[in-house]
Amino acid sequence: MTIFSEESRQLSVSRPTERLRRLRATPALRRFARETSLSAADFILPLFVRHDGERRAIPSMEGHFQETMDTLPARIEEALALGVTSVILFGIPTTKSPDGHEAWAPNGVVQDAIRTIRKVAGRDMVILADCCLDEYTSHGHCGVMVNGEVDNDATLALYTLAAQSQAHAGADVIAPSGMMDGGVAAIRDSLDEMGFSTVAIASYAAKFASCLYGPFRDAAGSTPQYGDRHGYQMDVANGREAQREITIDMDEGADAIIVKPALSSLDIIALARPIVDRPLIGYSVSGEWAFVHHASAAGAFDRRTAAMEMLMAIRRAGADRVITYFALEAAQWLKEER
Ligand code: PBG
Repeated sequence: MTIFSEESRQLSVSRPTERLRRLRATPALRRFARETSLSAADFILPLFVRHDGERRAIPSMEGHFQETMDTLPARIEEALALGVTSVILFGIPTTKSPDGHEAWAPNGVVQDAIRTIRKVAGRDMVILADCCLDEYTSHGHCGVMVNGEVDNDATLALYTLAAQSQAHAGADVIAPSGMMDGGVAAIRDSLDEMGFSTVAIASYAAKFASCLYGPFRDAAGSTPQYGDRHGYQMDVANGREAQREITIDMDEGADAIIVKPALSSLDIIALARPIVDRPLIGYSVSGEWAFVHHASAAGAFDRRTAAMEMLMAIRRAGADRVITYFALEAAQWLKEER
């Protein structure tokens, strides 16, 4: 007895097989058929900066450091040499306070870092300044606490101070990451009022309340001392709400849109792509770096292959740029491929 009837055999013969493997046959053909590219200029390097003491290794992120004003120039030169031409800055203040006022201090840590980078790189390096309070507040939340909750509008007033101060120091792009309602509009207005109409805003428009920020919070010392961020960051279950957040931020004047975490929001990036008519940035967060770092260290797979696969997938989903802790490593790998 045969599995297929005489008729079905004839049918399969008469229907030609689609030969998709034709373009997979050689490295050159695969390059020819490639839909998505990765280059060093796609990467945005996150940097942590502090004022005091030596640069410090970040225990949760091997190979990453809290840089100081003395060590920052070398990192910037290294990035430029590899073709990585944008950085996003996170400050670790000398002292944290309930209102997080070092975030808008004229000589705050990020402000000084911006000036330090400008001195080294001039306008060759695009400087994004993360605009939030969690690294600066003693309680670790992203804004002003009122009755155990972050007060939206009181927080916006402080974000505008931080944004103005970062713009004054010379930031190219302000990146509000606090997920407050009306944040982009408030910052845009305050920048324009102060004469910083040329400074752009890249909004963390869709930012989920994710455990994948764990290593970052260790790096920045910004774990909330009580409670969690579910009152302002988005529920991981919600995609339509992400679309609303993105639309609203564009209406408020965001020049670029950030989605994070990237790897667990590839659907959101793909959904955003047709509606976002400006740079779309996926933030491959510290936990994504940790997936690759720890799993490859344990022998699960090859670090380089896994990191490049992840970065490519984020680009393929629709992101123009990727904020990644692999920026320098990946730029080096790309250089070796050439
Ligand atoms: C908030 C901010 C966070 C990250 C970027 N900006 C932390 C948070 O929301 O708790 C996380 C990034 C990462 O995990 O790499 N200032």
